[in-house]
Amino acid sequence: MNTQVEALLKDQINKEFYSAYLYLAMSNYYYGENLDGFGHWFEVQAREEQEHAMKILKYLQDNGVKVELAAIAAPGADFSDYRAPLTAALKHEQYVTSLIHAIYKQARDSDDFRACQFLEWFVAEQGEEEKSTADLIAKFDLLGGDAKGLYLLNAELKNRA
Ligand code: FEO
Repeated sequence: MNTQVEALLKDQINKEFYSAYLYLAMSNYYYGENLDGFGHWFEVQAREEQEHAMKILKYLQDNGVKVELAAIAAPGADFSDYRAPLTAALKHEQYVTSLIHAIYKQARDSDDFRACQFLEWFVAEQGEEEKSTADLIAKFDLLGGDAKGLYLLNAELKNRA
């Protein structure tokens, strides 16, 4: 396995767990504001990020790489309004996409074809996550402007698996 790809993947485990922690902070914020649908939506995101971290950890383990787990930074949780976590989440996903692309590029440039194949799932996943977050912002902008619309959107989000 290419050593630079290996180092980037190790770091990505931490980034994915941080993403989980960030979304948990957002979920916690919404539950505190009695918007349990939004809280649930971010809880699901947090769980998915943990799965991403575990996928990378397993990949490294399966390839005989020893991984030392680093500390996870505390996420900020001071949001100015109900929309703020949504835009912060989209910005964060775009950042994670740039990280995944950088690892993919390193894998491709160093002929680490196994890593390329492994990372393709993440490339697609990032596209989906950016879209679902952008869709939620669009819905919020359509409905979230008054209490009734916000209530309806919150109710819809409760059903997300
Ligand atoms: Fe696993 Fe959404 O980054």
